[in-house]
Amino acid sequence: MSASEPLVLGIESSCDETGVGIVRGHTLLADALASSVDEHARFGGVVPEVASRAHLQALVPTLHRALDEAGVTLADIDAIAVTAGPGLAGALLVGVAGAKGLALAAEKPIYGVNHLAAHVAVDTLEHGPLPEPAIALLVSGGHSSLLRVDDLARGVTPLGATIDDAAGEAFDKVARLLGMPFPGGPPIDKAARDGDPLSITFPRGLTGPKDLVEHRFDFSFSGLKTAVARWVEARERSGEPVPVNDVAASFQDAVCDVLTRKALDACRSQGIETLVIGGGVAANSRLKAMAAERAAAYGITVRVPRPKLCTDNGAMVAALGSHLVAAGTAPSKLDFAADSAMPLTLVGV
Ligand code: KG4
Ligand code: ZN
Repeated sequence: MSASEPLVLGIESSCDETGVGIVRGHTLLADALASSVDEHARFGGVVPEVASRAHLQALVPTLHRALDEAGVTLADIDAIAVTAGPGLAGALLVGVAGAKGLALAAEKPIYGVNHLAAHVAVDTLEHGPLPEPAIALLVSGGHSSLLRVDDLARGVTPLGATIDDAAGEAFDKVARLLGMPFPGGPPIDKAARDGDPLSITFPRGLTGPKDLVEHRFDFSFSGLKTAVARWVEARERSGEPVPVNDVAASFQDAVCDVLTRKALDACRSQGIETLVIGGGVAANSRLKAMAAERAAAYGITVRVPRPKLCTDNGAMVAALGSHLVAAGTAPSKLDFAADSAMPLTLVGV
């Protein structure tokens, strides 16, 4: 780390995590987080109004924790980055309004950035600069996409995306029908460790010969979710116990099989040797292991940040902000809007 590298503060509030991160260059100095996940658990999904209120309460205390953790003051910060979208409109507004207030009061440049690009940029905090071009597999609760990254500061090229449920959404829905808490990724990951992934054959969406022509890099998880539901229902109807660990392991392997197969196909077809995986589902232990094992056979390097950096946090926003500052990108105008449907192709506003 060099003191000449920019000191960037990042604010994340697109969903249920209020995150404030501070980085210098590629070095993580603070990653403070407040989550309203427990308040949403009984509804089985994030309630937008509850999330917005929680952000409002958490933003200032989380900011102070981050500054303390990094041992810096607001005056020391060179630039502020904030998630401008995509995400829940009311939740985004809290972070954007807060960041603009700070930028105005402390006279700092502000960067409104894309949450999804930030999920890719965060890996630089763990593994250093991203070799470009790279293929990025982005798998979260709201998105599942395969992207080609030639220059992260300028934008990404979408290769494919889910045509129905996101991968994280499938984990959340399957967990719910197995009686596990929300969010469903972590409990399925844990249960699957004691299950047999080969015990039940669940469908691999969009992998048939015809699909591979029309939807080579797209995903579909809705049929898989329905297949799991039917299988569990049939068991219950027959009065037999549901082998929860086996169902979890077989479902998880079906998701990871499709994700890794298509991501590596994208790398090979484009002659790219680096695959970076980001988003909440990248925290999945099986996905990481399967990707590494399969990639090794082709000489492809897989980069996955540690689990805490995969799920939503402020450090990822700071990491993308730092990348934009280093690339000489002009800051956003102070009147930029939060954009709940911000397209993936737009890195900043
Ligand atoms: O990126 P993220 O924190 O928020 C969004 O931008 O959506 O992703 C949250 C998603 C949830 O669906 C959650 O179940 C999933 O990531 N997730 C996991 C794991 N940890 C979180 N999915 C599978 N395995 C995990 N270990
Ligand atoms: Zn996310």
